[in-house]
Amino acid sequence: MSATAAQAHPNIALIKYWGKQDKPGNLPATPNLSITLAELTTRTRVSSAGRDELWLNGNRKEDPKVNGFLAALRKKFAVEPLKIESENNFPTGAGLASSASGFAALITAINEHAQLGLNRELMSEWARRGSASAARSLFSGYVALVPPMWRAHQLAPASHMPLNVVVAITNRQTKSVSSTQGMEYSRLTSPYYSAWLRGGPDDFAAASSAINQRDFEALAQISELSCLKMHSLMLTSNPTLSYWNPATVACMDAVRDLRNQGCAVFFTIDAGPQLKAVCLPEATSQVAATLKNIVGDEQVIVCGMGDAAGLIEP
Ligand code: DP6
Repeated sequence: MSATAAQAHPNIALIKYWGKQDKPGNLPATPNLSITLAELTTRTRVSSAGRDELWLNGNRKEDPKVNGFLAALRKKFAVEPLKIESENNFPTGAGLASSASGFAALITAINEHAQLGLNRELMSEWARRGSASAARSLFSGYVALVPPMWRAHQLAPASHMPLNVVVAITNRQTKSVSSTQGMEYSRLTSPYYSAWLRGGPDDFAAASSAINQRDFEALAQISELSCLKMHSLMLTSNPTLSYWNPATVACMDAVRDLRNQGCAVFFTIDAGPQLKAVCLPEATSQVAATLKNIVGDEQVIVCGMGDAAGLIEP
């Protein structure tokens, strides 16, 4: 039976998405912006089967999000039952955006396998329905996910201002509260949620203009602020969402110290305890050495900016 395969990279948001609009389509409440990480990869192979089957890193899985995604796709297109085999070369479900690369690779593979004829923008829209951050992994470089269409697009190629991302893994366990659930708690209960909504467009505009002007320091300031605002929402949600551990905080302090010494680096953290230090290429070795001192050599991954999702040999 013929198979089709695609790969995609996770992306890391500099301006965060945390909270959805109260309407169908899995629409973020605020514009958001990311870069894609080259060394972390999801490879997904789809083939025709008697019934749908999902295999994640070699294990049979039932995933309600994937089931819902396939059901929505089949309302629009004739997609036969599929065996889906997906492999990540990084910890799954630990705040390294495996759902982003997962849905981006999945729609890319299904588009080819079932001959859906979607262009990249429409694949981004479908990926968004699976997981909104996945919409951004269809593109390389600096990527925006904005109204009114909420399909991602590239703001600038990576060559415009190349960055490296040094990932410090502080805990490899799967998170207990998913992003989808967590952001719903924040929307419903955080007293700061309305301020988050009000500030979102300005934060996005400030980051876009910093990228446009290749102003790393301005991008550093607005990106750290967006991250800390999101974690303030998380901490003030009921139930509280506390993703950091002592090593995460030690890494944040170390990145601040480096920056105070003139090193071009800032941190960002998603719905998990891993810290991502985003830096100019010349700062990479110093940043990696500093984080290795805290979490150990094996727990640090240095990434460049990755390619867009695309087909690979099955
Ligand atoms: C903290 O895209 O995983 O990584 O749309 O519900 O699947 P769903 O959420 P998801 O949330 C990502 C949240 C984040 C920030 C970001 O990537 O913008």
